[in-house]
Amino acid sequence: MVHRHDVLEELHLPAALVARQAQAAELRFELTFGPQKTAGHAWLHGPPGAGKTSTARFVIEALRAEAGVPVAYVNCWKANTAYLALAQAIDELRILGLDQRRDALSRLAVLSKEAARRPFVLVLDEFDALAAPDRSFLLYTLAELERVSLVCIAGSQEPLVELEDRVRSRFRPVQVAFARYAANDLVAILLARAETGLTPGSWSRSQLERIAGMSNGDARIAIQTLRRAANLADRAGEAFLTDAAVDRAYTEMRDIRKQYALRKLTPHHRLIFDLVLAEKGLSAKELWSRYLQAARSYGLPPIALRTFRKYANVELTQARLVEVRPGGPRRNVFRYYAT
Ligand SMILES: Nc1ncnc2c1ncn2[C@@H]1O[C@H](COP(=O)(O)OP(=O)(O)OP(=O)(O)O)[C@@H](O)[C@H]1O
Ligand SMILES: [Mg+2]
Repeated sequence: MVHRHDVLEELHLPAALVARQAQAAELRFELTFGPQKTAGHAWLHGPPGAGKTSTARFVIEALRAEAGVPVAYVNCWKANTAYLALAQAIDELRILGLDQRRDALSRLAVLSKEAARRPFVLVLDEFDALAAPDRSFLLYTLAELERVSLVCIAGSQEPLVELEDRVRSRFRPVQVAFARYAANDLVAILLARAETGLTPGSWSRSQLERIAGMSNGDARIAIQTLRRAANLADRAGEAFLTDAAVDRAYTEMRDIRKQYALRKLTPHHRLIFDLVLAEKGLSAKELWSRYLQAARSYGLPPIALRTFRKYANVELTQARLVEVRPGGPRRNVFRYYAT
């Protein structure tokens, strides 16, 4: 059934992006250097699977190919300190002749020298995976280099809002928002993949609509559900995609999504999630006292109550890992559930 596996892979970059022309054009405009125009910075934000990384890659490829602009792409989830991010950028730009010192400031000096030679774009994907001091350090120092354009990709605008004033006065990115896809956009995305990746006649449009409807605006879940379902059907020796395969693929994808979302969060988020998972319907007070106990027993310095509230009530709910519902005899008691 699957005759081109690469088309269904996470890193496959399609020839055209569905429903992201406006974001791509905005980013491209901001990154274009001209005789009268210095390139600016951009902050791309939105929920998982909304096409942030793909759109950035798409625009970068075009700039590289058409204008020869050098670009460094850094995934901060992998290069998760300021030093590692700078080292990765130097690697990507293929800068040679490094000095022997291995600290962030000397790496910064290397990039600064490079920027004096030629302008370049630095993409910092998963920017929210860095600790706040590393984010400030990078933005403050890199935004000072006149010919470096920064593209930060994050889940929300929150890290931008939280920056200290001295950083914000230097770093003023254009903000490009990515909303969840509408179901018909997901159908169009799936259609393009099915047409090139699957055997003609082995799937139907209504099945793609079904997958799109389940995926909650997340293109990654939609594509990976299609891929998994087609592989399951292949393995069972079926010539057609079946509803049973789609349902099973979707259940598996939900679990994978959770692991993926959790991987990107801090150990405190994971601890809170584990506690919510272990016991259904804990109240906020119970969850907080269990968190304190567990953090101490792991030798993890506990976070402040205010931060705990933000993690449990905002971030874990936004990542769709936790649900908070009113419950109990009194109306102001909220209870926590794993989704
Ligand atoms: N507009 C689109 N057209 C075609 N494919 C898309 C589009 N948007 C996303 N995809 C595909 O969906 C998957 C997820 O997209 P992408 O990685 O860009 O999301 P993201 O917003 O960066 O998510 P995250 O925040 O989890 O990193 C990728 O496989 C990508 O190829
Ligand atoms: Mg991404």
